[in-house]
Amino acid sequence: MTTPVLNVSNLRKSFGEFTAVDDVSFNIMPGEILGLLGPNGAGKTTTMHMLLGLITPTSGSIRMFGMELATHREQILQQVNFSSTYISMPLALTVEENLWVVARLYGLPDIRRRVDDIVKKLEMEEFRQKITRKLSSGQMTRLTLAKAFLTEPKILFLDEPTASLDPDIAHKIRALLKEERRSSGLSILYTSHNMREMEEMSDRIIFLQRGKIVAEGTAQEIVTRFGQADLEDVFLKIARDSRL
Ligand SMILES: Nc1ncnc2c1ncn2[C@@H]1O[C@H](COP(=O)(O)OP(=O)(O)OP(=O)(O)O)[C@@H](O)[C@H]1O
Ligand SMILES: [Mg+2]
Repeated sequence: MTTPVLNVSNLRKSFGEFTAVDDVSFNIMPGEILGLLGPNGAGKTTTMHMLLGLITPTSGSIRMFGMELATHREQILQQVNFSSTYISMPLALTVEENLWVVARLYGLPDIRRRVDDIVKKLEMEEFRQKITRKLSSGQMTRLTLAKAFLTEPKILFLDEPTASLDPDIAHKIRALLKEERRSSGLSILYTSHNMREMEEMSDRIIFLQRGKIVAEGTAQEIVTRFGQADLEDVFLKIARDSRL
């Protein structure tokens, strides 16, 4: 049996009286794309922040590559990376300079090749010399994705990676993610509010609602279980029922 690259057990995060993530457990297998789905405020970003060691869980355990995050933080974080709109990068540097800084911080070999590669893959040639402050939001998203890919991680955490991308670039990013998973066995946990994308990308989906897992399975399994036509209808049903 293959061992999961990520194992989350009974994870919980409370902010004072409020519990944002409530007893969440799941695994990610090597090369698996897991979609984290749920309404605004469901606890998706909070979960990712705990997996990245940015905030400390109230309770529960996070294991990656067979090691506990709390005690093997550095070894684990070297092998993962993330992308999200809340990343802040030095705005006065050019796109290319920012990528060089990341590569140096991680002590990566072969920086020139890696930077050239990722710029080409994400079609960033046009704005590689641009000052980061002047990027459009879609260009900024591509820069944060490039930063995530640069370190050739084993697990990628992507919080709404395609939110500000035009349909053409979003399509290319999805193709790239699938290709990386195929060629290097990359595992991906990602969030999106685009239900078609969720259905297309995810091997498995976890549906979070008020911090709890309310459904889990392939898109098709979830759709069938809730007796709906598609994932969008499942989403509307779950979200609206809870807002009554
Ligand atoms: N530092 C904090 N202090 C207090 N409450 C917080 C904090 N961070 C998050 N929360 C609350 O936790 C809940 C979950 O937030 P989170 O950002 O994880 O949601 P999300 O599922 O990512 O939503 P979205 O789809 O809007 O991005 C929200 O109610 C939020 O207000
Ligand atoms: Mg979020």
